Amino acid sequence: MNTEKQRSSFSGKIGFVLSAAGSAVGLGNIWRFPYLAAKYGGGIFLLVYLILVLTFGYAMIIAETALGRMTRKSPVGAYAKFGRGWQFSGGGWINAVIPILICPYYSVIGGWVCKYLAGYLSGGVQELAQDGYFTDFIINGADVEFWFILFSLASLVIIYMGVQNGIERVSRFMMPVLVLLAVIIAVYSVTRPGALEGVKYFLIPNMANFSWMTVVSAMGQMFYSLSIAMGILVTFGSYMKKDVSIEQATAHVEIFDTGIAVLAGLMIIPAVFAFSGGDPTMLKAGPSLMFITMPKIFASMGVGTPVGIIFFVLVLFAALTSALSLLESGVSTFEDELHWSRKKATLFMGFLMFGLGTLSALGYGPLSAVTVIGMQFLDFFDFLTNSVMMPIAAMATCLLIVRVIGIDRIAEEVRENGAPFRRKPVFDFMIKYLCPFFVAIILFSSVGSVFGLISM
Ligand code: PFF
Repeated sequence: MNTEKQRSSFSGKIGFVLSAAGSAVGLGNIWRFPYLAAKYGGGIFLLVYLILVLTFGYAMIIAETALGRMTRKSPVGAYAKFGRGWQFSGGGWINAVIPILICPYYSVIGGWVCKYLAGYLSGGVQELAQDGYFTDFIINGADVEFWFILFSLASLVIIYMGVQNGIERVSRFMMPVLVLLAVIIAVYSVTRPGALEGVKYFLIPNMANFSWMTVVSAMGQMFYSLSIAMGILVTFGSYMKKDVSIEQATAHVEIFDTGIAVLAGLMIIPAVFAFSGGDPTMLKAGPSLMFITMPKIFASMGVGTPVGIIFFVLVLFAALTSALSLLESGVSTFEDELHWSRKKATLFMGFLMFGLGTLSALGYGPLSAVTVIGMQFLDFFDFLTNSVMMPIAAMATCLLIVRVIGIDRIAEEVRENGAPFRRKPVFDFMIKYLCPFFVAIILFSSVGSVFGLISM
């Protein structure tokens, strides 16, 4: 049986950190974080986000990694180790299903990135910066579908061939280049005339911009960006050796992931002010923000073509490593739990990706008349996973730990081999009280607002 196979493991701390960071740093940081920050309050969003990462995010990242290392299983198996009831299989499966639902629409955005990269490669630096370029693109169903399929096929082939190790080796070099380029672009962006207002908007909290949606979206983003509340870290934890310090390794991932998100905010939000005068409709542009502001920055640079190419290559790389861990988690769930062959599992994931991804790819164009609870497909899948399913998954993990496994057992796992657990008091308080309470409120408010029961 598959589960009896010798479980592979990371070489050491660096293996875990690189893989977890490769999964964490992706479109969530560069594309999703800046548009949410711009839309939901700027500085106040950033503040709420940072508080959440340091408290809630910290507790979850530790909990999931420890749960994985302790059980040596992916989420479904990990939950099943502690009981057979519906709560256990439900808790495990919801964690496992989330990446499977994210993967298709994530690949649609990955396709957008490919399209822009191709645009820069063919010298379209001015054309890409034109108003309306992005909108014309996403309403063109055939074009979006083509790039989506290209991106998906690339990731499916890599997963099928199992060359993830190669990717990790490339990460060692790509990640630092990504950071360097992000710093250069951020410096360029914040020094444009008029950009200072944007820096202030992004960094200085202003309560006037606060709404309940600030908290809801910051929390969804935290789950998404750190790859928590979706079983990924349970799986990564299961590959982690006992002599690696969980607290230290996860802290690296948190710091790195948050650093890149803040840098991306500094690249994009000041540029909105410099190039569109902080136009409120631009600030609320949502998913299109990165694809509209970055080309404007590049077009103004003089050396826009090479910078555009390098930028989109790096974003593509970040997107690909994240897509691979989403896919891998889907494929391994089917292999482990349903005992399918890798080929069958990969084909099935491909099939799902194609079906669900096509809905998202065509959602702004040919299918724009079709909405689900008032949302286009892509926005719907994003909302369903981030604002509904991840809070439930996080709640399930908190309950499993507090009620069944016991916090002390998790602490023992973290302290294995004399490793430190300095923030244990924060961890205990978060897991026991604040996380479940918070998650419940978030869940009710996001669902309530969609069905018009409350307004946020
Ligand atoms: N954390 C990724 C990002 O911020 O882009 C998204 C993601 C990737 C979530 C992989 C989950 C995952 F397994």
